[in-house]
Amino acid sequence: MKKFSRTVAIISFILVMALLFTACGKKVSTDGEENGDQLPVDTEQPSAGTEESSRIDEIKQAGKLVLGTSADYPPYEFHKEIDGKDTIVGFDIEIAKAIAEDLGVELEIKDMDFEGLLLALNAGKVDIVLAGMTPKPGRDAEFSKIYYKALQGLLVHADNKDVYKTVDDLTGKRIGAQKGSIQEDLAQEEIKDLRLKALAKIPDLVLEVKHKKIDAVLMEMPVAEAYAANNDDLHLMPVELIDEEGGSAVAAKTGEKELIEFANKVIDKLEKDGSIEKFVIEAVEMVE
Ligand code: ARG
Repeated sequence: MKKFSRTVAIISFILVMALLFTACGKKVSTDGEENGDQLPVDTEQPSAGTEESSRIDEIKQAGKLVLGTSADYPPYEFHKEIDGKDTIVGFDIEIAKAIAEDLGVELEIKDMDFEGLLLALNAGKVDIVLAGMTPKPGRDAEFSKIYYKALQGLLVHADNKDVYKTVDDLTGKRIGAQKGSIQEDLAQEEIKDLRLKALAKIPDLVLEVKHKKIDAVLMEMPVAEAYAANNDDLHLMPVELIDEEGGSAVAAKTGEKELIEFANKVIDKLEKDGSIEKFVIEAVEMVE
């Protein structure tokens, strides 16, 4: 009897080991399938992790991260001729490059109107958006943590330097803001009886001020500073508007939490080692 039960024990042990072995083998081959040849992926587990890591896998497989931006916003993102070539530069671009680098892929930049960015994101035309974009309720996207905070500034014509000194001086005036931006709302909240002019491109709004077709234009302070520094006929009003929960974040398509978690980790790293600060300083230097 003793011998018999020992035999059973040994057989069961062998069976268990065999089972474990096949289970392991299976796991290895499943992983292989996911990373390699496109065999049917297990759709039985709609857990967030599985779904989203496959989104990151898709980007890795494509070998590129497609960034949507609106390159009319120095020092965040803007066009600059480098070695005779029109190039999009800015601190948002450097952050996007770091995200792409950590994903092990190239960065491809798609420049478009600010108001079209979230549409492009949700249509899958771009993977992420960095455009000095402020997370706000109603914006259909997944947002990262804030990577940069700024005040809001108002640009006026240099001739009106002494006319427009306070926000109250702008009461009833023609005020410009970028279409689809938070500045559209902010201007209406802060300036009484304004006549709002919303245009798609910041340079067009700046031209309107230069030609005195509008009295002032509202944008993030660093951008207003950049335009003022480069245009003698523009003047930055000595006022600061504060957008309470303001700041810039990375946006991804709604639901793509894992991509945003990835972006958050990159942001943490860049914050810790001082890179974001460095990117901002370098971008500001490139404006001039
Ligand atoms: N922060 C503002 C917003 O989210 C304006 C950003 C404009 N960005 C740009 N690249 N033009 O609405």
